[in-house]
Amino acid sequence: MTDQYAVIGNPVAHSKSPRIHAEFARQTGHDLTYEALPAPLDGFSDAVRAFRERGGKGLNVTLPFKQEAWRLADRREGFALEAGAVNTLKFEAGALIGYNTDGVGLVRDLRDNLRRTLRAKRVLLMGAGGASHGVMEPLLREQPQCLVVANRTLEKAVEMVGHFEKFQSFAAEGIAARAYSELARSRFDVLINATSAGLAGAMPQLPESVFAADALAYDMVYGLETPFLRYARAHGARSVDGTGMLVEQAAESFFIWRGVRPQTAPVIALLRSQNR
Ligand code: ATR
Repeated sequence: MTDQYAVIGNPVAHSKSPRIHAEFARQTGHDLTYEALPAPLDGFSDAVRAFRERGGKGLNVTLPFKQEAWRLADRREGFALEAGAVNTLKFEAGALIGYNTDGVGLVRDLRDNLRRTLRAKRVLLMGAGGASHGVMEPLLREQPQCLVVANRTLEKAVEMVGHFEKFQSFAAEGIAARAYSELARSRFDVLINATSAGLAGAMPQLPESVFAADALAYDMVYGLETPFLRYARAHGARSVDGTGMLVEQAAESFFIWRGVRPQTAPVIALLRSQNR
């Protein structure tokens, strides 16, 4: 029987994941289906169970269910352990295994596609919600000079930095939480926007002096030029949206399920051409 996969979320109809996984399946010759599966806000675990009972092999999990998926998993692997959020579920005999491939996706896009090493670089991560939690440990393991987390609600950044303190020695100068207004005298080589502000046409209140020479500004939102990316470009930074991260996290999920690593470059190019 054809293996079944899906992305589960609410809303989920807009998701590009079915398109991406259809490309991966075509490329690798794997016989599988991948659909967008909407779940009611109070019906996530029932929807997962129903999908499994009809023969599903795995799920990607998107907003707002990533934390619930973490709790639902019988076991968590790799970066999911500390992230508190799961974006990939694999159904094994008798067990539901949770993974988080978002951080791997971000780091691969930065390092392999955009040729930006994070090692010894000053990195700013904006936001302290689920998206930021998912990328903290993978970013730190790239051994930046420092990782500064800025958030509109400072206490949330302080709390998140505290949670990831055990990884702080990976960064030469450690990790810190700051309000945006405290960044006026700081410069960063890589600035990552993990807030949802761009979706509402807004951006964090970032001082214009934060961009180091040759800085890279990255927004995890994909398919649109957010106010943050426009602002960064106007201040001399290279600005990139999250399309590459989206495809790379999907490729890592595909690898977890299928044991094969698909090529990402043609799929990233395809999505970018469709956004134009
Ligand atoms: P997600 O799971 O996508 O991270 P979330 O947990 O709701 O979603 O977190 C959204 C993040 O975007 C938060 O860090 C939020 O800041 P607050 O903690 O202060 O709410 C941030 N955010 C949303 N809109 C923003 C805006 N207009 N300016 C700055 N930060 C914003």
